[in-house]
Amino acid sequence: MNAGDTLSALRVEKLLWRGRGLARLDSGQVVMLEPGVLPGETVDARVIKAAKDFLQAEAVRTLEASPLRGAHPCPHADQCGGSRFGMVTPADGLALKAGILRDAVARALGRSYAGALPEIRAVPSPDGWRYRWRGQIHVRGGLPHAMAHASNDLVPLTDCHLLAAPLAAAMPSLAAKLPDGRFTIAASPDTGEAATELDRTLLPFSFPDFGLTLRLPPNTFFQANWGLNQLLVRAAIDELGSFERIADLFSGAGNFALPLAARGRTVLAVEGSAPAVDTGTRNAARLGLGSVTFRSANLAKPASWSMVRGFAPQAAILDPPRTGAKGIGQTLLDMPGLQRLVWVSCDVVNTIRDAKPLLDAGWRLTAMSLFDMFPGTWHMEVLMVLERP
Ligand SMILES: C[S@@+](CC[C@H](N)C(=O)[O-])C[C@H]1O[C@@H](n2cnc3c(N)ncnc32)[C@H](O)[C@@H]1O
Repeated sequence: MNAGDTLSALRVEKLLWRGRGLARLDSGQVVMLEPGVLPGETVDARVIKAAKDFLQAEAVRTLEASPLRGAHPCPHADQCGGSRFGMVTPADGLALKAGILRDAVARALGRSYAGALPEIRAVPSPDGWRYRWRGQIHVRGGLPHAMAHASNDLVPLTDCHLLAAPLAAAMPSLAAKLPDGRFTIAASPDTGEAATELDRTLLPFSFPDFGLTLRLPPNTFFQANWGLNQLLVRAAIDELGSFERIADLFSGAGNFALPLAARGRTVLAVEGSAPAVDTGTRNAARLGLGSVTFRSANLAKPASWSMVRGFAPQAAILDPPRTGAKGIGQTLLDMPGLQRLVWVSCDVVNTIRDAKPLLDAGWRLTAMSLFDMFPGTWHMEVLMVLERP
């Protein structure tokens, strides 16, 4: 088989990690279908690439559609790569993600893991569409665009159903004042005020449960689905139990550290981005939260860990980037006082790879929750709790 060849009447067995569909030829050869197909569907597909163990292909015609497939609400859905699963309801999408997650975790843990797999608690997004208060647009000639699906082409956008309504409404005027390029745009869930990463402004972002309002520059990382982030932060803090000294690793501007400090915990927040550390420090000072300290450090470097060891945390929350944090498992294993880890992951396969030394040493995965941070896409945020034996 070569790129461009057609595969006829493939049946999609199930969805795999990264939202790909699994199918097989009569010969048994595995076909990985690009995101956008659903379990049980029959499709014709075009081979994109013949890899060593499987064919990578893209569905070109649906012969038999899943009963879950409905109309995609976005007019750009055919070309845009932003929401390949917008044709299922958020509830069905969440059930599909739970299946993907269960398979991926079992596979990543492998047979050597002796513990039982915890039940997955699936937490829906309060908003099925229009949930993002931060997003990226490509600007060409003062007009907003998105990256096309499976190519580097740009698709002109008249709207984006992923963006919160005030941010979608502001998108054309924000794009009009930007040069060509790729930019972050953001809006405040409190006031609706929208800005681009080039604007020197601070947007208010509130945590009603904690009586906190952060002031964040549009160019800083913060959880895009602010509605669901409220539930994620509350769940993470509940999972940290009554431990007093907590390390927040990959803390960003303090999404977990500041609410933890508001609950009276002593927190060391470590983050690689100096502007995020500055934002966290300024918010802590303005809010009078004296029990949190922000430090800028590259956690990929072993030397950075002496300050974490010196802090002697009883528990830690970790929220590394999608690529994970290679080597961190062994480092954490060498911290004797650490009793519990709350690991927030946007790529659970990488997370389990990173946690392997702890699991091999007898740490147990005791809870797992799937937060549907990105309805309409295959992406998910997973909160895992690991406990010392
Ligand atoms: C997924 S974000 C989480 C941020 C924060 N916990 C939140 O919820 O807003 C990951 C963070 O890790 C930081 N980061 C990435 N690589 C790092 C490294 N090697 N050392 C320290 N921080 C890093 C990024 O700057 C980013 O703020």
